[in-house]
Amino acid sequence: MAGPRKASPGARLPDTPGAWLRHAVRLYEKHGLALGQIATTAHDEALYLILRTLELPLDSDERVLKQPLTAVQQTALAEVFRRRVEEHMPAAYLTKEAWLGDRRFYVDERVLIPRSYFLEIIPEQLDAWLPDPKKVTQVVDVCTGSGCLAILLAQHFPRAKVDAVDLSADALEVAKINVRDYRLTRRVTLHRSDVFDAVPAVKYDVILSNPPYEPSQHCDALPVEFRREPRLALDGGRDGLDIIRKLLRQARTRLKPHGIVLIEVGGLRAAMDREFAVLDPHWLHTADGSDCVCVIHAARLRNLPR
Ligand SMILES: C[S@@+](CC[C@H](N)C(=O)[O-])C[C@H]1O[C@@H](n2cnc3c(N)ncnc32)[C@H](O)[C@@H]1O
Repeated sequence: MAGPRKASPGARLPDTPGAWLRHAVRLYEKHGLALGQIATTAHDEALYLILRTLELPLDSDERVLKQPLTAVQQTALAEVFRRRVEEHMPAAYLTKEAWLGDRRFYVDERVLIPRSYFLEIIPEQLDAWLPDPKKVTQVVDVCTGSGCLAILLAQHFPRAKVDAVDLSADALEVAKINVRDYRLTRRVTLHRSDVFDAVPAVKYDVILSNPPYEPSQHCDALPVEFRREPRLALDGGRDGLDIIRKLLRQARTRLKPHGIVLIEVGGLRAAMDREFAVLDPHWLHTADGSDCVCVIHAARLRNLPR
């Protein structure tokens, strides 16, 4: 299969960002590149890659698409799209950044590319589940990866101490960069731990987690782009529930009496309702209707058999 045009001497490369955009969209279609990590359309992802590679603002207006490119810029774009096509390298790993709303996070292949529903849930719905959100002092993000959700939590609860937990030392290195970039090192503490095993005994107002929840077999069948993310970030064991089971069991002794657990579970809503009916999980509505984040009250966790 013919790959993207290479920057070989004499080869003609698209000579404006707009021509690159049209060329790149055709490449995405021809090579069946997987989307869904930072954008849902080839147009949006390719435009993002073009603007970032050319170091143009992401909100540039359409006129930039007509500007002539230098040979150096053309070569840079050829190399970015070569890696995207030939290596199926996710766009976020090429640019070393990912966006949650208007917040930018450093990412690389050591972490999942942030795309959590907690982006909408933390600012819009979380407070309604707490007796007094202003008095929240202890919060934990279990399975923190890049640290993105711990950072959103720290910004949402300005008086809270936030623990950010991950089993992967590599992921915690990335989280450290982001916590430092957001100047939150005094309030966000990173812990290397298998769920709560090595986390000091603290009672939390909020336990939040976007854990690995893909059934192992699904992970094997994912498109290459998703298999480039750390397996540990995706694989939730045979039925996807391994980490969630452990988290809920351990959460019983980790919450204040009014505390809550919030978990994002992807396609496991029905399995959760079956296995954890005694916890009465409440499913939060999300804009795209996937409704895959649940809230569970501390009092309900007592119903979990030991
Ligand atoms: C789905 S990613 C979520 C990352 C981040 N919270 C986000 O939303 O982008 C899951 C993370 O859980 C971590 N993880 C996997 N198993 C774990 C365990 N047993 N204990 C703690 N963290 C774990 C992985 O290393 C990965 O960083």
